[in-house]
Amino acid sequence: MLPTIEWRKDRVIMIDQRKLPVKEVYVECTDYNQVAEAVEKMIIRGAPAIGVAAGYGVALGLLKVESEENLDEEFNRIYRRLERTRPTANNLFWALERMKKTFKKNKRLSFSQLKKRMIQEATDIEREDIETNKKIGIWGKDLLKDGQSVLTHCNAGLLATAGYGTALGVIRAAFQEGKKVQVYAGETRPFLQGARLTCWELDKENIPVTLITDNMAGFLMQKGMISAVMTGADRIAKNGDTVNKIGTYTIAVLAKEHSLPFYVAAPSNTIDFNLAEGTEIPIEERDPQEVREIGGRCLTLPNVKVQNPAFDITPAKYISAIITEKGIVRAPYEKNLKGLGRKKNLRR
Ligand code: MRU
Repeated sequence: MLPTIEWRKDRVIMIDQRKLPVKEVYVECTDYNQVAEAVEKMIIRGAPAIGVAAGYGVALGLLKVESEENLDEEFNRIYRRLERTRPTANNLFWALERMKKTFKKNKRLSFSQLKKRMIQEATDIEREDIETNKKIGIWGKDLLKDGQSVLTHCNAGLLATAGYGTALGVIRAAFQEGKKVQVYAGETRPFLQGARLTCWELDKENIPVTLITDNMAGFLMQKGMISAVMTGADRIAKNGDTVNKIGTYTIAVLAKEHSLPFYVAAPSNTIDFNLAEGTEIPIEERDPQEVREIGGRCLTLPNVKVQNPAFDITPAKYISAIITEKGIVRAPYEKNLKGLGRKKNLRR
């Protein structure tokens, strides 16, 4: 399977997701600033993948520090730069905190051993993310039945993670088990993660995929062509409200109207237990040019006023279940998310 991101010979290598599916180009980052820019420019994107990049960014930053003097200040500078890249995905902040804990715990090591330990921690985050996604797949695959059509939004696949994917991981697991599932991928304006990335990665594995524009979902549901919706998440509040790619909320409301199950697949590090509800989650507003242009070509008035929120909030009442690596959680989310991992709360 293609790596989304990996550590190779003191560098961070990542596939340039802006260029897919036309070109498969890899970008090499030799310092933490380049990793931060890669996240900002969406060379790498998707909540878990951003978390992995942040871990490697910290490791790379410390590796390049030459003197042990002012090490805490150096660490904080690296941390703060990476923290500023994108505001919404919880996994970024989770990974940075994990790297900070490792740094603090291992400061008594020699400088060179500390650097190695930090690289090890970042590599562990990457490896664990793939294991987590496979567990999400195992829990979630029974929710999909042979012959069903699943609508997904954005890209919550191997490209959005260290590998395998969350929402697409569930679909992968069902497919690998022999179920004939087919996928409808919403194109996901304006960045087109669905059209460019989801179609690309599903096609590579011969998982049947049909592309639709975002405004076609309701009609397909009305026609009985969709059996279930499966998306990823960027941040989940403790009451289950879920922030995901812009357009997710619209699909969730439509799914409820058509009595279709709406599933969210996400690792538990996407849950932010500090936030009571979805309205507290910061929503990134991106460059207006992303809406005015497609592939660098302006499709409207060059200076037309634009709104470009990258994410929206799906209230928990629209979510049939949240599939995590620790089990499947259903309402009441406040209680059941808190008890995540305790056997009695897990249901298929
Ligand atoms: O702006 P992006 O491409 O980083 O947004 C990605 C999404 O919204 C995904 O659905 C989400 O991160 C889940 S990925 C497993």
